[in-house]
Amino acid sequence: MPKGWQWDPTLYKGAGPHYARGRLPYPSALAERFRLGADLSGAPRLIDVGCGPGTVAVALACLFAEVIGVDPDADMLVEAAGRAAEFGVENVRWVHLRAEALPAGLGHFRYATFAQSFHWMEREVVAEIMFRMIEPGGAFVHVNTAVASSQSPVLPFPSPPRAEIDALIKSYLGEDHRAGQSVLRYGTPDGEARVLVGAGFRPARSVPVKGGDGLERSVGDIISWVLSHSNSAPHLFGDDLARFEDDLRHLLDDASDQGRFSQWAGDVELNFYDRSAERG
Ligand SMILES: C[S@@+](CC[C@H](N)C(=O)[O-])C[C@H]1O[C@@H](n2cnc3c(N)ncnc32)[C@H](O)[C@@H]1O
Repeated sequence: MPKGWQWDPTLYKGAGPHYARGRLPYPSALAERFRLGADLSGAPRLIDVGCGPGTVAVALACLFAEVIGVDPDADMLVEAAGRAAEFGVENVRWVHLRAEALPAGLGHFRYATFAQSFHWMEREVVAEIMFRMIEPGGAFVHVNTAVASSQSPVLPFPSPPRAEIDALIKSYLGEDHRAGQSVLRYGTPDGEARVLVGAGFRPARSVPVKGGDGLERSVGDIISWVLSHSNSAPHLFGDDLARFEDDLRHLLDDASDQGRFSQWAGDVELNFYDRSAERG
């Protein structure tokens, strides 16, 4: 959990409906690359913790007999169910829960995935719970999106004007980095390897996944991208939300003659922290 920060259920309030449209997709090779690092014999189960709108759970469902996505944000789970239906995925179940409240009778799993979520949790507590929930021979898989890029594509449209967007957010919400009802003074923690090895998992085996091509994005996509982040989630703007969206739209209209932007979904790393029979 971030130092000096207090978790509460409003962390992503209102962001769910913007997530699928706004966030950059995971590489399409995610499942194929996961298969390379995994033992999928028998009828393996996956738990995706902090599943949000089901992005990773739905992408990996083809590899598993059963998938459970867990998230404490009910709106995210509505999006996740919609996504599963859209892709015709039927072997996935969504559970409204904080990771700290596991195992909650959900049983054992071959793999657990954590994608852009572990840093929000009581990491030592959750790592200990996961050591008990993951079968020997399975792994805790940390999906790392903060990977140095292996390509630098030439993109046809401008990037979203990050500095101006941040300044606009601050003009509404103040200088502090907001997250839920609390303020994130020291950012979110990294160093998950120390926590996971401390809980008994083996040091990570890393499977790289190459990012996709540059994406063409509309003004509406970029507005959703902004509203999908915890520090600029819709609930933070209260009654000023419509005014903020108008200001953001004007800023983006001014930043691109054609009303189009380019963004590039970078590389990802699947870090498999194996769970052997004995603590490492
Ligand atoms: C940045 S989103 C990532 C969503 C999805 N895993 C993905 O990669 O697209 C972070 C998610 O973690 C969830 N989350 C935050 N704190 C959590 C906790 N203590 N237990 C479980 N999930 C949590 C949030 O509700 C949110 O849906």
